[in-house]
Amino acid sequence: MPIYAVRTSPSLHGEAQINTSKNAVLPIMAAALLCHSPVTLHQVPNLTDVDSMAGVLEACGAKVTRTGRDLTVQADHLCSPRDASVMHRLRASILVLGPLCARAGEAEVPLPGGCAIGQRPVDIHLRGMRALGAEANQENNLAIARGRLTGGSIYLDFPSVGATENLIMAAALAQGVTRIENAAKEPEIVDLCDFLIRCGARILGAGTGTVVVDGVSRLNGIEYTPIPDRIEAGTLACAAAITEGSILLSGARSDHLRALLFKLRETGMLVQEDARGLCLRGRAKRGVDVRTLSYPGFPTDLQAPMMTVCCKTKGQSVFLETIFENRYMHAVALSRMGADIRTEGRMAVVRGGAPLYGCTVEATDLRAGAALMLAGLMAQGETQLVDEAGHIDRGYEGLDEKLRQLGADILRSGGTR
Ligand code: UD1
Repeated sequence: MPIYAVRTSPSLHGEAQINTSKNAVLPIMAAALLCHSPVTLHQVPNLTDVDSMAGVLEACGAKVTRTGRDLTVQADHLCSPRDASVMHRLRASILVLGPLCARAGEAEVPLPGGCAIGQRPVDIHLRGMRALGAEANQENNLAIARGRLTGGSIYLDFPSVGATENLIMAAALAQGVTRIENAAKEPEIVDLCDFLIRCGARILGAGTGTVVVDGVSRLNGIEYTPIPDRIEAGTLACAAAITEGSILLSGARSDHLRALLFKLRETGMLVQEDARGLCLRGRAKRGVDVRTLSYPGFPTDLQAPMMTVCCKTKGQSVFLETIFENRYMHAVALSRMGADIRTEGRMAVVRGGAPLYGCTVEATDLRAGAALMLAGLMAQGETQLVDEAGHIDRGYEGLDEKLRQLGADILRSGGTR
């Protein structure tokens, strides 16, 4: 079990290279199941969620090989995964439902796991599969979809990222034209579609609320490098704000981080964009209000790190979490460290500026863990961050190491990747 001893750190300075995006890699790995020839992904980060997804694809009959930072998926003979424990390791395991049904004509997929930040049902995925002509249901802890897929019209009750991805993948090999309304617009959806288009898919409107997919009979494997991780970049940007540092985030895409950058500028931070990436410096002075929304709104995955920033800024910040119903677990730990935070349902009010004191806190989920590591940098004394479930390694490759290279005082013990 990883334990991080985080001590009060000086201003962080230097350059950090941003990895490729976990949330882009995972759906593209699932999409590799649609391809008749091997897919090789480059620059794949070393994350336990990637390992878990590789296990999911293997349980579906694919061959997955990893050489350095390249990952190859060969999907010749597909089957439904029987091992529920593999599927429970991550939420993104549900993303094999669409590809399996599209290619093999049926999919019986144990319901996914992932961070306990809300109920996270799969009803939108299943309703969409039904619109594509499948018989789709949830039974005995399985998501089931069967039948030959045909194009259809789909309206998503909520622009779910995962459902949009699943349905685009299913529609890519369905017969006829599919129109998905109220689709999610996240950069990872655009990246998935860019990948599929290069494999031979016909997709229009990725990144808008209406995605149109004209099904083809076959997709071929390609080599592909996914986009940089906007959440890793955003987390490190928050570290710069918390420590009054100056960090160059190499490779970060400012066009994917607009909402966060607006908010950081509002606190008083200086943000410069250039060809190498993003540079953050200055001091976060003022509290800000943050409402999480679907892209291009403020990402729910950066709500926790941003709350740590708002513990530092003077004045009041109001948070409204509209995506997940149980995503304030870090607020409890931050309060234990001395922060003045009141939560009420989906709202949290932070009265910033109170000194934080190191104590033992637990990483209750992936982004909460990152937020608490950042809080340790500004807390007096030592913060023991216990990550019993290894949440941080699921989504960040060596976050402690990256922060340490920028000058942070963090020691990791008890389990390495
Ligand atoms: C993805 C991201 C995750 C991010 C989230 C929201 C990946 C691997 N994960 O998760 O990091 O926090 O988007 O930006 O890309 N919902 C339903 N029914 C459904 C599907 C979703 O009610 O069938 C609800 C969920 O419970 C949640 C909301 O919709 O409240 C958003 O979920 P969704 O966009 O699907 O998130 P994920 O794809 O799981």
